[in-house]
Amino acid sequence: MRHLMSPLDFSVEELDRLLDLANDIEKYPEKYAHACDGKKLATLFYEPSTRTRLSFEAAMMNLGGNIFGFSSAASSSAAKGESVSDTIRMVSCYADICAMRHPKEGAPMVASAVSSIPVINAGDGGHQHPTQTLTDLLTIRSLKGRLDHLVIGLCGDLKFGRTVHSLVRALARYEHVTFVFISPEELKVPEYIKEDVLDAENIPYKEVERIEDVMPELDILYMTRVQRERFFNEEDYIRLKDFYILNNKKMKLAKEDMIVMHPLPRVNEISVEVDKDPRAAYFRQVQYGVYVRMALILTLLEVNVC
Ligand code: NCD
Repeated sequence: MRHLMSPLDFSVEELDRLLDLANDIEKYPEKYAHACDGKKLATLFYEPSTRTRLSFEAAMMNLGGNIFGFSSAASSSAAKGESVSDTIRMVSCYADICAMRHPKEGAPMVASAVSSIPVINAGDGGHQHPTQTLTDLLTIRSLKGRLDHLVIGLCGDLKFGRTVHSLVRALARYEHVTFVFISPEELKVPEYIKEDVLDAENIPYKEVERIEDVMPELDILYMTRVQRERFFNEEDYIRLKDFYILNNKKMKLAKEDMIVMHPLPRVNEISVEVDKDPRAAYFRQVQYGVYVRMALILTLLEVNVC
């Protein structure tokens, strides 16, 4: 039985197969409409989420399966003091697979150690967000046609943004990917990512503060929200929250085929005027998220559709 804790749990070849399956689902959704008939997905969300939870639920429903779960710690037995390990032992008796989001880093890993059903990490604190990474990889491969030979700019809260941490790890495995980290000093990408992932493999990267300085070089611009809930004080958040606002003027500096991605939710970092630009890919990214989660559920449940 397999779980998904980190995007690196799949080899590059396995990822290719998963993304191929997601593309096939996109083309022939009816082929998969009953693939999970009678199966149940539990969504255990100890931290708020709109997209990720609904996307998992939509994915399972598209496969013909059923869903149940909770969407905040307050509405689960965690409020009575139940441990994650006990909750997952219990859920293992009800469901065939589960997706867990938790504010504590490593909580889904603790669950996977005692679970008798596959556990999917749907985001653990500031650590990792592997299914957003699968979504991002599918979006990039579908819209750019490749996962190698890319210059990707990651902009915003690179310190607390778990989607960034997971995506850097995943893209670092492909040839000739260059990272451009765009952030204020206080929100720079953590040292451990630079040391363990990039320096260790001699992967080129640079760190800048001004988005305008690097815009013309980028194939992809990955915008992120300043993660208010992970700040220790509100003053710092207020000072940094509007550091970057992508608008049409800045988009003029970009390549004609650059794509703008964002894991969403957006706050102010992308002005709504950019939504009409054909290079804005963030809502298409949401759709790819459903296809890739369908592919993931099929893969972890070992359901083959011919
Ligand atoms: C991201 C997350 O939860 O980390 N959202 C998501 O899953 N689509 C990004 C964010 O909250 O800023």
